[in-house]
Amino acid sequence: MSITYDQNTGQIHLFNDQISYIMQVQTSGLLLHSYFGKRIVLLSGPLPYPVRDSGDFSPRPVGYENTRFTLDSALQEIPGGGNGDYRTPCFEVTYADGTKATDLRFVGATIRAGKPKLNKLPATYVKKPEEADTIEVSMCDNFRHLEITLQYTIFKDLPVITRSIIYKNNSNRVMTLGKAYSFAVDLPDDNFELLQLPGAWAREKQIVRTPLVPGDHVLESRRGASSVFQQPFLALVRPSTTEDTGELYASHFVYSGSFRLEVAVDHYHQARLTGGINPVDFSWELKPDTEFQTPEMVTVYTDQGLHGMSKAFYRLYGDHLVRGEYQYRDRPVVFNSWETLTFNFNEQRLVSLAAQAKAVGAEVFVVDDGWFGHRDSDSSSLGDWSADRQKLPSGIKSLATKIHALNMGFGLWFEPEMVSPDSELYRAHPDWAIAIPGVSPVQGRHQLVLDFSRADVRTHIMNAMSQIIDAGQLDFIKWDMNRNIASIYSASLPPERQMETLHRYILGLYAFLEELTSKYPNVLFENCSGGGGRFDAGMAYYMPQSWASDDTDAWERTKIQYGTSLLFPPVMIDAHLSESPNQQVGRITDFRTRVAVAGSANLGLMLELDKKTPEELSKIKAVVEAYKKKRHMIQFGNFYRLISPFTSDYGAWEFVDETRRHVLVYLVQALNQPSKPLLTIKLTGLIPGAHYRVANRVWYGAELMQYGLYLNEELDHDFASIDLAIDCVD
Ligand code: GLA
Repeated sequence: MSITYDQNTGQIHLFNDQISYIMQVQTSGLLLHSYFGKRIVLLSGPLPYPVRDSGDFSPRPVGYENTRFTLDSALQEIPGGGNGDYRTPCFEVTYADGTKATDLRFVGATIRAGKPKLNKLPATYVKKPEEADTIEVSMCDNFRHLEITLQYTIFKDLPVITRSIIYKNNSNRVMTLGKAYSFAVDLPDDNFELLQLPGAWAREKQIVRTPLVPGDHVLESRRGASSVFQQPFLALVRPSTTEDTGELYASHFVYSGSFRLEVAVDHYHQARLTGGINPVDFSWELKPDTEFQTPEMVTVYTDQGLHGMSKAFYRLYGDHLVRGEYQYRDRPVVFNSWETLTFNFNEQRLVSLAAQAKAVGAEVFVVDDGWFGHRDSDSSSLGDWSADRQKLPSGIKSLATKIHALNMGFGLWFEPEMVSPDSELYRAHPDWAIAIPGVSPVQGRHQLVLDFSRADVRTHIMNAMSQIIDAGQLDFIKWDMNRNIASIYSASLPPERQMETLHRYILGLYAFLEELTSKYPNVLFENCSGGGGRFDAGMAYYMPQSWASDDTDAWERTKIQYGTSLLFPPVMIDAHLSESPNQQVGRITDFRTRVAVAGSANLGLMLELDKKTPEELSKIKAVVEAYKKKRHMIQFGNFYRLISPFTSDYGAWEFVDETRRHVLVYLVQALNQPSKPLLTIKLTGLIPGAHYRVANRVWYGAELMQYGLYLNEELDHDFASIDLAIDCVD
């Protein structure tokens, strides 16, 4: 891994064994993009830049008057500025005189080992400087005195470039950022398909792949949260790219608020990838001598297909994003009360359910919604974080003591960013909710959003939560967030800065999470937002695992977990074994299939244990025991997608442990039919020359990977799913 900057030729090269990222400082000071892709080992000098004449309609930048060069077709590192590039810009600044045009020229570049922290933002990190190198390229408009620093980091052995941009006002007048994206990657062709992960509540992260056509493609959230509707991610994949082979570029934003990712295909069929904080409902006042740092964008290049991409994200997030005690620790089997009890419980019912959960092997008991204020439905009490004395007359401490006495961890659900109009908190501080003064506040799920950009609001919630965490000696917290922001207004900001609110809210949230997770390093945090509504890389910096969806139906979850697995490894995904018929879709699914799906991530339980027969309880116990034996391999082993549920009637995937001797294969079928076509499943990740036993036969790894297994017969017996444990017998 290294970064070189040749001052004579102006060439900047970031490289490791897998990738090269090359840019070119022109003698004029413009910074052009040369190349991003597979490592170029030998470079003879600056890469010639193909000049495409856009004719007189595309003006020439200063210094290029009598040439055919125009920014309108040039590949650039920091496009924008209103100087004749009419494509999507990476930034927009309005100066004190009301104009926007900006002419950025190169000032200098600094290379250093390691990776600097981002200012008050989550980001990928290194533990030792030798794990990554960083270059900061400084650009300046000498008339406007706007300085832009482009930060690029390349990791030692990952096909990943991270980017963040610092916008700094070196003038003595205020500037306003209207758009401050985190990155731009200009690609010289558009022979791609666009891969994205849109969704909805209880249907998160669906894989959608469509041809890329000329024009602008926008993926975004304007909701103040990344949302269930779209993940801050997109990939440009070659049409021939498969799970295992082929090129792609994939960008993922380490941010949890409103975002936008864009692909602009221009008149020369070049593709510009840009993105960052959504410019809708965003502006930022940049006072003299102040700077604004954007969140980080992670971009993967691989020629090893979607698996190559996922492997890069898993390693990046596993080793360089997730932090804390649980980073490399096996995750406990959690029993969560929600689907079993909803709001209807008392201490006795909870303790007896916990005892039953313990008996089947659960390690942590989590009381979900309904334990605080007078919360008998979702219409009250958010903000009143003290025990509901009707349900829990002896308080949280008493309940916690009883759960801990069962030798189980104890956890609680919180929705700290919210307030119910029917709450003590709202009655005392109506102005703490985000609402426009004088206008009736817009509600969602009968609740309002607290203004987390305000330190006083955060301090109150921190104190209230800390009291409960201390009283209950909590081991686990489920952090939920169930509505998006509307009627944007913050009492702490003057009128001209109101549109800073959404980003300041996220900065406030991050500050809160930093403090809370540092104060309680032993608590395992589960990130949730009505399911996977904020299951993003920003939250993963604070919380190592997330509730993927409120839909626990096995087939729906097969798709949701498959989509989620493009970016996040199984250990970051929480899945619970729940009842059949399923609460969300009413589907009846057999036990084994539900176990296969929930047991392919961090297994948890949401079951009506008090209604089970002894035989059923022992089946559940056996499942939990078996899961514990293989969980390290499921949570931290190699994960492979085999058959996509988005393009077939099946979903199939595989776990292989570090030694490659132990293999688990799962296949789930959506709908059985007579006379189905042959179903072959080809394994991956095995040792080709080693022997593996599958049922009564021993195979070479190579055979299982190339010839595969025909599974129709098994499916005829077991209609919904197959699970195979395959071990090396050498
Ligand atoms: C959200 C969560 C659920 C549950 C409920 C409780 O919908 O996603 O898992 O916690 O809130 O109200």
